[in-house]
Amino acid sequence: MTLAQRTKKIAAPGTSRMRTIANELKAQGLHIVNFAAGELDGDTSDAVKQGARQAIDAGKNIYTPTMGAPELRKQLGALVSQHTGVAYAHDEVGLTAGAKQALYNAAMVLLDPDDEVIIPNPYWVTFPTQVELAQGRPVFIETRDAGYQLMASQVEQAITPKTKALIINTPNNPSGAVYQAAQLAKIAALALQHDFWIIFDECYAALVRGGHQHAHILAIEPRLKERIVLVNSFSKSHALTGWRLGYVAAPAPVMKAMENLQGHTTSNPSSVAQYAISYALAREDGQFIARVNRTLDERLRRALAIVAEMPSVQVAQPQGAFYLFLDISAHLGKQLDGTVIADVDQFCEAALREARIAMVSGAAFGDPSSVRISYAISTDDVVEGLQRLRQLLQRLQ
Ligand SMILES: Cc1ncc(COP(=O)(O)O)c(C=O)c1O
Repeated sequence: MTLAQRTKKIAAPGTSRMRTIANELKAQGLHIVNFAAGELDGDTSDAVKQGARQAIDAGKNIYTPTMGAPELRKQLGALVSQHTGVAYAHDEVGLTAGAKQALYNAAMVLLDPDDEVIIPNPYWVTFPTQVELAQGRPVFIETRDAGYQLMASQVEQAITPKTKALIINTPNNPSGAVYQAAQLAKIAALALQHDFWIIFDECYAALVRGGHQHAHILAIEPRLKERIVLVNSFSKSHALTGWRLGYVAAPAPVMKAMENLQGHTTSNPSSVAQYAISYALAREDGQFIARVNRTLDERLRRALAIVAEMPSVQVAQPQGAFYLFLDISAHLGKQLDGTVIADVDQFCEAALREARIAMVSGAAFGDPSSVRISYAISTDDVVEGLQRLRQLLQRLQ
């Protein structure tokens, strides 16, 4: 069977693979600590659920305009304006089936063949694939040596006449880094000077660890408005991964091009999800996300105490999202009961087999020295799973 050449550029997301194996083992009755999930463990808010019930009963079960219901676009325009200090009208904001679709739309409407897109490494798995599907070329810059911070000097070195865009994801998946305002200011200046787009993925903006603040590049440099595509989502902020609702804010011509594209791919995202979020946003008092952050802060505190006891494991203190990115490279090449653990993929498989913990290999994020652990699972599981990991590491020779 001959499939399109395009399919060679698309591998199953590494994050999904470990999730699938973990679920299979769970189905066999084994207690797997699942560090591989990319979502909150708690349920969404009552307001969202109430909004959904009302939407269904009110017959909001049919198509909305492609880029979303006008009242929600207006609400989100106001929200983005409030967060950035830069005015966004309703036709500069659109709803998508998760941030994933917003990012895909951006790649498809901005990139021509061979356009270069700078992507900080480690990166969320989907960024390079989407760029390649749009026939662009990912250009990676390494952030590990800077504690996973994105440094303007590195961005500058990667710029060529073909640079079309830079993808910034802060708070970052997988490292948990929250990018510094001072660096973002310099990067904004580079974008204006060299005339490239910033695709700003802030899906985890609401999820910051105690004491840290999400710095918004557009709030820092409002002139960037004509050069930025903002991407956000309700998946992580409202524990709504299954509903597939995200949004994008961009200059009106970009939004129009996205509307044309989306009109031929999926049309509008779920109408019920849109009305439910609209209802919830109108009633939000910040309590839900504050509770989530408090819980995550405590889990992180417990987690870091155990990680500190792990032999030869490096970790940068996470400032946002809900991931720990553990550098276990000192253990690669060692043996577990006589079998060599040659690389991080083998390490993850051994951890699943021997310690019943599912993690995501850093190779999926372009960094084969590390593993990603989500601490958005029960506190008991965080503690139990990390203790099992520590014991596993102690067995390696
Ligand atoms: C950095 C980043 N961007 C985008 C997404 C996609 O989120 P959504 O569920 O809204 O499509 C994810 C999901 O894990 C993510 O980690």
